[in-house]
Amino acid sequence: MPADAHTITVVIFGASGDLTERKLIPALFSLFRKGRLPECCVNIVGFSRTPYSHDAFRAHLRDGMETLAPTAFDAEAWRAFAPRLWYAPGDTQTPGDYGTLRALLREIEGGPANRVYYAAVAPQLFPVLAGHLGDAGLADQREGWRRIVIEKPFGTDLASARDLTRALHAVFDEEQIYRMDHYLGKETAQNILFFRFANTIFEPVWNRNYVAGVQISVLEELDVGRRGAYYDQSGVLRDMFQNHLLQLLTLVAMEPPASFDATAIRNEKAKVLSAIQPIAPDETVRGQYAGYRSANGVAPDSHTATYAALALRIANWRWQGVPFLLRSGKALTCRTSEITIEFQRPPHRIFGEAAIGANLLTLAIQPNEGIHLRVQAKTPDQPREMAAVDMEFYYRSYFGENGLPEAYERLLLDVMLGDQSLFPREDQIEITWQLMDPVPPAWAAPGAPPLETYAPGSWGPAGAEALAARLGTLWHLGRTCRLP
Ligand code: BG6
Repeated sequence: MPADAHTITVVIFGASGDLTERKLIPALFSLFRKGRLPECCVNIVGFSRTPYSHDAFRAHLRDGMETLAPTAFDAEAWRAFAPRLWYAPGDTQTPGDYGTLRALLREIEGGPANRVYYAAVAPQLFPVLAGHLGDAGLADQREGWRRIVIEKPFGTDLASARDLTRALHAVFDEEQIYRMDHYLGKETAQNILFFRFANTIFEPVWNRNYVAGVQISVLEELDVGRRGAYYDQSGVLRDMFQNHLLQLLTLVAMEPPASFDATAIRNEKAKVLSAIQPIAPDETVRGQYAGYRSANGVAPDSHTATYAALALRIANWRWQGVPFLLRSGKALTCRTSEITIEFQRPPHRIFGEAAIGANLLTLAIQPNEGIHLRVQAKTPDQPREMAAVDMEFYYRSYFGENGLPEAYERLLLDVMLGDQSLFPREDQIEITWQLMDPVPPAWAAPGAPPLETYAPGSWGPAGAEALAARLGTLWHLGRTCRLP
């Protein structure tokens, strides 16, 4: 690769779609405004079937920014940014259109350049796109690096994930492939490793000797909306557990890496994922919200789960015997993603028989991002009574209202910097599918836990409470549903 290739081109395939307008362009614009993209030599090229001119594409994106991200929009900065936007009309499935794209790239780059290919296309087109990029010579790295970004789903089961990896590897090395899991780009998810390994007081108790259980909740208030057709095929396990929830679990459960480097981090993640035991069907709960079956694109007799709760066990020295309870669902009472570490209770009671609540450490991923530690305190003016009180840290009180960038900003920057730490590696994808694949057939087998109907706007199926109770706990609910 030539040393002077400092021009960067981001080519977005599927550029007329929602993702470009809602996430990619606002993130790139924000990076540009912050001076994190080289103004002289960054180009963003949209490729899709809509017949835009360069100017029409720029106007379309400007409208999108003004409507969808009005607070992030700045007319003056946009005037400097807009000339960096280009458009090549084309069909991902038509080989000839890649020749047109190549010609445009040569013209605007005017010499060696590095390139990010962002696959914002339907997942079934990922292999097609990779193949055509290869055939058109666009994956060739002699004139600068070439990286490809793909969005989930990375397959729909182990076999299809392997097929996808094979198709990508026929053209790109693993070092060139960036699999987006936007949960890993959330600041508060990134902070988990800093919290654990930049402090000394938590890690000594971060194990089976002190931790009674771990809970990971990713609850959504929204229902499936207009995504019924996709969701009905996918369901909550494929949509949320195989990726976001298991990735959050790796951050909480992994061993400290020897360095803060992508390979070291990814090795530790793969290691802890491979220590998770097969999921016991009787430690699963599944639910579907009332009304789901009449959503657009959903089969009227659908058995797709829109909610699940699972107990996972990690068989290693650190976590032997500690249940990890995971739950996620749509159409629930509030939107909240949080991780709670429940510590063991004191071994001996010296304050009488009153039950002592557990110390709880909550990592609030969103909203009201923060960290909370629940401790027992003596109730004033009472000889032996105590109350559970919280020590609280909120990002916005320390770092300001606008201190938290969008996940896509961090992730796109990392792609350009060549840092793969926040992107799941192929082995992680395989292990997570291996773990998830047996659950849907187990749910279809005789004796499976029933598909429980839950009311939209509730906390989900009653079975989830029963599962927690069987494990000797209860769900530590929704701290982040409430404003401080
Ligand atoms: C996506 C899922 O990956 O994550 C969606 O496909 C879900 O179904 C979304 O709504 C949740 O992301 P966030 O960032 O809004 O919590």
